[in-house]
Amino acid sequence: MKLDIPYLLAHLTLEEKAGLCSGEDSWLTKAVERLGIPHVMVSDGPHGLRTQKEKVNGSYVGSIPSICFPTGAALASSYDTALLSKVGDALGEEARSEGVQTILGPAVNVKRSPLCGRNFEYLSEDPYLSGKLASSYVKAVQAHQVGVSLKHFAANSQETMRMSVNEHIDERTLREIYLTAFELVVKEAKPWTLMCSYNRINGTYSSENRELLTGILRDEWGHDGIVMSDWGAVNRRVDGIKAGLDLEMPGSNGNNDRKIVQAVKDSSLSMEELDKVVARLLSWIAKGVEKASAPYDKEAHHLVAREAAQRSAILLKNDSLLPLDSFKDVLFVGPFAKHPRYQGGGSSHINSYRVDDAFSFAPGVEWTIGMGEDSASRDEKAMETAVSLAKKAKAVVLFLGLPDKYESEGYDRKVLSLPPCQDELVNHITSVQPHVIVVLHHGSPVSMPWKDKVEAILDMYLGGEAVGSATDDLLLGKANPSGRLAETIPLRLEDTPCFGDFARGRHEAFYGEGVFVGYRWYDDRKMDTLFPFGYGLSYTTFSLSALRLSASVWKKGETVQANVDVTNTGVRDGEEVVELYVRRAEGLSVARPPKELKGFAKVFLKKGETKTVNFILDERSFAYWDDERHCWRAERGSYGILVGISSRNLPLEAELEVEEAPLPFVVTDTMTFGELLHSGKRFPALEKMMGQFMTGHDDQTLGEGAQEMIKEMMMAMPLHSLVSFMPVSYEQFLALLQ
Ligand code: GLC
Repeated sequence: MKLDIPYLLAHLTLEEKAGLCSGEDSWLTKAVERLGIPHVMVSDGPHGLRTQKEKVNGSYVGSIPSICFPTGAALASSYDTALLSKVGDALGEEARSEGVQTILGPAVNVKRSPLCGRNFEYLSEDPYLSGKLASSYVKAVQAHQVGVSLKHFAANSQETMRMSVNEHIDERTLREIYLTAFELVVKEAKPWTLMCSYNRINGTYSSENRELLTGILRDEWGHDGIVMSDWGAVNRRVDGIKAGLDLEMPGSNGNNDRKIVQAVKDSSLSMEELDKVVARLLSWIAKGVEKASAPYDKEAHHLVAREAAQRSAILLKNDSLLPLDSFKDVLFVGPFAKHPRYQGGGSSHINSYRVDDAFSFAPGVEWTIGMGEDSASRDEKAMETAVSLAKKAKAVVLFLGLPDKYESEGYDRKVLSLPPCQDELVNHITSVQPHVIVVLHHGSPVSMPWKDKVEAILDMYLGGEAVGSATDDLLLGKANPSGRLAETIPLRLEDTPCFGDFARGRHEAFYGEGVFVGYRWYDDRKMDTLFPFGYGLSYTTFSLSALRLSASVWKKGETVQANVDVTNTGVRDGEEVVELYVRRAEGLSVARPPKELKGFAKVFLKKGETKTVNFILDERSFAYWDDERHCWRAERGSYGILVGISSRNLPLEAELEVEEAPLPFVVTDTMTFGELLHSGKRFPALEKMMGQFMTGHDDQTLGEGAQEMIKEMMMAMPLHSLVSFMPVSYEQFLALLQ
């Protein structure tokens, strides 16, 4: 719609301007009728519209029926930017038809721990995968003139104490891991809005963090939209205005609006600063359309949800039992077969249009519950019945997973395991039946002590309202599984990177693991996992060959192409995900993960077909965040280009030399001798002094290997300590440095 922003800024009163900086209620912004500024409606959430329109006694009740797509964790497992676009396109159409101007999603926080209660909404433990997939979703939604709110900016890594926890994160870790997904989306998809997180980062609430909301987000990345708060995340409103927080949601009954008015009146906030915020809000409002469009085809969107669930599912194990030829004489066990858990709890929870359960789409199948209705309680009788029926069945499909109360927005998990009754049921069933398939419904990793006892494991995650029919499509081979893990499934909770710090119920979280999150951690420590990042099977087989690079050297400002051929060597059509990782060079100046995902592509291949996949490598394929120079740095060295089908299965490899212009070298008195010599430059006077210092020490006085020990000590010695050991004054030393 058209708004004349300069005119409006000149005619809005101070009170009206302050009023525009906060919501009227949970979902609407304030209108200024007299000047033709309309309300704007925002609505959760990332995988479906939780749009509330009806009010009783002034409070919203219920939410409209809408399509519940697979949650973020499931969609990310598709590794399919085209699929994320398809879901975003459907959501954009739905939002237009319901009059929603901005959808409150996608949620791209990195999965620091598998225990985070909201991981089901988030995409991955890898920021590159998250950012690339989310960018496709955002572009597709916004093509409908509907906005998104990329959330939660930033480092909302746990639900425990989420509104107050202080996340202690070093600059490099913050940049490389917790901001990169946001950076990719802002630069590639230009989201209309971001939503700031509740938590503090290094002592400052995100809702008033100027470096985050303006320095990085706007000045560096070029975000020209608005930032809204998470609901109730505002701490000091005027500080927020100054930091770049445009919209407080929901409103605070005018309390914070009055603070803004007061601040302008007492000149602690300039009208110019306020006008900058109001101008951004008005241009955001103007991006939307005035009226809702025609109703959308719910059945068609339901089928999109079904396809999305099919293409996100991950086949974790298959000892050739799948696909089944029919459901005749097959037994389904577990409540989820009739009442699937297909979404999470909290603000993303959808009033689903209609739910497909696996039982209804499996002609001829027999069903028994095997446990308590809640999928969490043991029921001896139900278990005995399940075991006796399992004996006679051709095969048993066990529907297992996390019940609602095990994970949700608002709290974190405590353990990785499934409800004990489920693990027990698997043991009983597999003791009488060799052909057992486990179908999983969960939003974050679970342990599987029975992995070797079952013949197949199909992981549906929280697959949306059509998960049941999608599951049956996959079990019968009407669809060929093509998902890959977007997060590591660890063997034990104690193996996880932030074990011991995560959600300890304190107000402080210390990211001691640094950049070593997810597979970066397990690879660096050469730890086994239950299933590795990027892993997933298919009903067919593929082979990769002929990795070739367009150059053997990368220079700043250039790109290098990596091409690889993929062949479907199996018995049926299918989709392969090709993953490209860059392996660190040796001898770098900082500790880096052994390898990092820097490319992925999903490709459909008919049986026998071969296609070429290509990847583009640029500076950020090699760079780390240099927190001394506060910039991205692709350090010179020989890097490995690894291509394969999981983070632990990378059969193709090539070397790429990264060249780097000499960095400006400034000698400082805090620099160590080692750094000085590592620079490759010569400092004869200093080196002479070092020689003198070394000669004074021998094995008799310092023990065997004295020279080596002294050399090591010298390398780590800051130059200014020289004056403590040499007959020079500090002035002479400084003159020497010059
Ligand atoms: C919630 C969530 C956020 C959601 C908002 C509105 O607290 O953190 O993701 O969009 O409030 O429901």
